[in-house]
Amino acid sequence: MNVLVLVGSLRPDSTNRRLADAAVAHLPADVQATVFERLADLPHYSEELDHDDALPEVARDLREAVADADALLLVTPEYNGSLPSALKNAVDWTSRPRGASAIAGTPAAVLGASGSPRAAQWAREDGVRVLRVAGADVLEDTVGVGSAFQAFADGRLTDPELDDALRGLVRRLAEQVRAHRTAA
Ligand SMILES: Cc1cc2nc3c(=O)[nH]c(=O)nc-3n(C[C@H](O)[C@H](O)[C@H](O)COP(=O)(O)O)c2cc1C
Repeated sequence: MNVLVLVGSLRPDSTNRRLADAAVAHLPADVQATVFERLADLPHYSEELDHDDALPEVARDLREAVADADALLLVTPEYNGSLPSALKNAVDWTSRPRGASAIAGTPAAVLGASGSPRAAQWAREDGVRVLRVAGADVLEDTVGVGSAFQAFADGRLTDPELDDALRGLVRRLAEQVRAHRTAA
């Protein structure tokens, strides 16, 4: 099983990157996870670019990575009460072509970390909504980390209850993939 991770913060010392790493550490041993590292290179979505002869290579690669993935993990900071544009742009690219998109039917889950105690709640809610509209099979439950600059030590969440919630969510995502396979 292969999980593709999209991290909405582009900075190297990102708390959301730490959250993504902590989530990946909780995946069952037989699950591989890959972070798509080129969101910063992805042009803004334009239908002018969305043709075989104009499609940017990075957009093609993102679509292939999503198509190859059994599940998606969206890890989002909150920027002005919503998703950062890098993450929304990635969802937009993977939601096309309409009717044959890479993301349609893909199991997905949303995590978020912010510096405030509100734990990126609006960004997480928006993440669930845009993934659902894009056609992903997204879990309603999310995990949010507030006051994120103080929330990690040695690559783990320091709050044991929050860490349990994180483990529970990523394991449910893996179970959802297995359920999809059984149904197929
Ligand atoms: C443009 C911008 C807008 C932000 N808006 C919010 C916000 O609406 N709510 C919030 O809790 N934090 C907001 N923040 C603070 C982020 O939560 C904080 O920078 C967070 O650490 C970003 O995640 P990262 O550590 O993964 O980069 C904003 C930060 C930036 C740069």
